[in-house]
Amino acid sequence: MDRIRIRGGNCLNGTIAISGAKNAALPLMIASLLTEETLTLDNLPRLADVAMLKRILGNHGVDCMVHGKRAGQNGMHGETIDLTAGAIVDTTAPYEMVSKMRASFWVIAPLIARMHQARVSLPGGCAIGTRPVDLLIDALKALGADIDIDSGYVVARAPKGLTGARIAFPKISVGATHVAVMAAALARGETVIENAAREPEIVDLALCLTGMGARIAGAGTATIHIDGVESLGGARHRVMADRIETGTYAIAATMAGGEVFLEGASPATLGTPLSVLNKVGAEITATNSGIRVRRNGNGLAAVDVTTEPFPGFPTDLQAQLMALVSRANGTSHIRETIFENRFMHVQELARLGADIHLDGQVATVTGVDRLKGAEVMATDLRASVSLVIAGLAAEGETVVNRVYHLDRGFERIEEKLRGCGAAIERLTT
Ligand code: EPZ
Repeated sequence: MDRIRIRGGNCLNGTIAISGAKNAALPLMIASLLTEETLTLDNLPRLADVAMLKRILGNHGVDCMVHGKRAGQNGMHGETIDLTAGAIVDTTAPYEMVSKMRASFWVIAPLIARMHQARVSLPGGCAIGTRPVDLLIDALKALGADIDIDSGYVVARAPKGLTGARIAFPKISVGATHVAVMAAALARGETVIENAAREPEIVDLALCLTGMGARIAGAGTATIHIDGVESLGGARHRVMADRIETGTYAIAATMAGGEVFLEGASPATLGTPLSVLNKVGAEITATNSGIRVRRNGNGLAAVDVTTEPFPGFPTDLQAQLMALVSRANGTSHIRETIFENRFMHVQELARLGADIHLDGQVATVTGVDRLKGAEVMATDLRASVSLVIAGLAAEGETVVNRVYHLDRGFERIEEKLRGCGAAIERLTT
């Protein structure tokens, strides 16, 4: 199993090309099931989760064709793929696939909307929380689907197709909003989604669906209106830049010191995290082509942060921020409100000398003068990258185990950091 070794203490200076967003790419790829025509996606990140989803879509009959590299293109450019679901040959998503990548559960939406039936394995538990799918199922029921749970599978039927409806979510859910939007796009009549998630990835999906002929208004706000259409066509869409990857490198640059340009990043998707970073001690310059981050010379300041749905502080940057403020002057309080078990990195950061106390969903982080390298264990995607960030500033050597967690959501992380002067390498065994 691969591991990553970091020798801390180097500042980061240089340019990092931001990849396409994992959390936009997954629903966009799934949307290809809504049409028999070709959906071409540009700027697709090369990630384990994307590769896994290609296999899952292939299982349903989606033809997946990767474009060859064009002249002047190198590994830093995202991938371009054609996804064509000319004929859906199987409406079952098996446990052995869905359990590996829980977002694949969302295939239930295009399958029931287009094929009027679907049998999709429940995704099961996850390291960061129980993560039920009741809101996704309720949305499909509201659109007229009959749903049963049978031997760990959600069995959905809508012999006459779906019908538009009012869906008022009791709680904000990104996945439930993606599912409701995709299903309603082919439902008869109007759907109104209230208390919808406002994440930029929802907007990116709505943009792509509109390119395919869908009629959607209000994506990015709490109320989304969808007028269903008979069928959708093909389209070409560029996956948005990854705001979580951007935030991660901005935090790494603030932690290690130096100046980094995050090429292709979009500041508008990162309002809250960038203002928090500014408070901690980073100088942030937003440009048309990206974001420049440089640590001002004043040391790191402590902050209090609560994770919230967009536009609040994203839970997917919580672990990274915790690593940063573990070296701040003073005490920070980080409250996690989205997932009930998203502090697995705390004990690993403590191995590097961080001083963090947990009380329910609140972590109290008392800044220390120095971190010292050690062997640590990755537990989930975002926790693993917080250990890399801490390792960049720790004295001596840090070795992060189980980096397969990282590969799920960060494209070529050691190359990108090494390109900015980090002493980091992958140990393959
Ligand atoms: C998406 O997960 C992201 N995943 C997550 O990123 C991200 O942390 C999360 O949104 C919140 O921003 C992808 O986009 C692939 P939710 P999702 O439904 O859709 C509860 C990463 O690191 N809930 O918004 O699964 C749920 O348990 C991943 O890239 C229900 O109770 O998140 C959680 O407490 C991790 N019932 C809360 O809502 C439901 O039916 C928010 O979850 C659905 C969710």
